[in-house]
Amino acid sequence: MVPVNSAGREAILLVGGEGTRLRPLTLTTPKPMLPVAGVPITVHQIKRAQAAGITRIILGTAYRSEVFADHLGNGAALGVEIVYAHEEQPLGTGGAIRNAARFLRSGPQDPVVVFNGDVLSGVDIGMLMDRHLEADAGVTLHLTRVDDPRRYGLVPTNAQGFVTDFREKPQSDEEIITDQINAGCYVFRRDVVDVIPEGAVVSVERETFPYLLATGTRVLGVVDDSYWLDLGTPWDYVRGSCDVVRGIAPGSGRPAGERLALAGATVAEDAIVDGGSTVGENAVVESQAHIHASVLLREAIIARGAQVTASAIGRRARIGVDCVVTGAVIGDDAVVEDGAVVMDGVRINPGEHVSR
Ligand code: GDD
Ligand code: MG
Repeated sequence: MVPVNSAGREAILLVGGEGTRLRPLTLTTPKPMLPVAGVPITVHQIKRAQAAGITRIILGTAYRSEVFADHLGNGAALGVEIVYAHEEQPLGTGGAIRNAARFLRSGPQDPVVVFNGDVLSGVDIGMLMDRHLEADAGVTLHLTRVDDPRRYGLVPTNAQGFVTDFREKPQSDEEIITDQINAGCYVFRRDVVDVIPEGAVVSVERETFPYLLATGTRVLGVVDDSYWLDLGTPWDYVRGSCDVVRGIAPGSGRPAGERLALAGATVAEDAIVDGGSTVGENAVVESQAHIHASVLLREAIIARGAQVTASAIGRRARIGVDCVVTGAVIGDDAVVEDGAVVMDGVRINPGEHVSR
């Protein structure tokens, strides 16, 4: 394989979705800015792109765009140049790529990497670019294998690795023709982006990719089995954060451990925090509380004897004395009163009070 010098490459990062499935956490923070092991998902992705030689990143924003600019600025602190391509009305994944492409400086044949903004992945980005150029593909997709592909885009390939079909979020069992799914990272030849109509709402998965196949563009799939997780649901978000803390997923830059306590966090000596849990900035875990495989956002308070398992606890939320919270999402500023029990799948809105 001829290694390709990827220095100076450009990327587009799609961060404009509403993160509906992650409500209520995403009512205040856009999904890509939620902290995973204390660092926003977007920052994990930018660092990985930077390490692969990408120097300029166009952020495709729509929902709550100001939060990104406030936190990331021009990107200098992360060693990249960040440019913002805002959509007044969300243009969908394809429309967002087309809108962001206005800011690219790459030549027509150059590879441009596109990332979904909610994926934690160990894929070798330089390898994807190499494979794309070697195969002379118009687009190359990172594919991964999952047990249950129904929530994703199914992407079968032929013996040479070229994509033969796209089935986004299949509705029937007959449509489940492969366990290979679109992992949300693409390499586009720059001029291929121009097939997407300008200023229109377009889904890259449902419209652009099928169109490219139908019109004979070479679309390559690269199946890679390194760590991969879409953080789009609360349970996957919490799991992804715990996996980073425990060193199962890439990206912490810290030694792996059973817990991570961020600046100003207070954990009582006889409290237990484990399973890869993060205790956010200035959050408090009181005596005899047990936090397992969970994410406590900044300034959350877990009172004495409370048990929090596989849950996300919002900013400034309070979990009362001896509460049991399992598999739940507690919104910012919500209060779970002393002795209350919140079980699997329950979501508590910001500021809501849950009594015993
Ligand atoms: N700028 C912008 N504008 N970004 C958007 C828009 C938009 O209108 N709509 C979605 N996005 C961003 C989201 O913020 C997210 O980072 C990314 O595009 C993908 O959107 P999701 O809503 O997370 O899609 P999904 O998870 O259901 O499905 C996608 O990802 C799967 C893998 O994680 C598809 O690409 C599937 O084919 C794929 O398997
Ligand atoms: Mg997603």
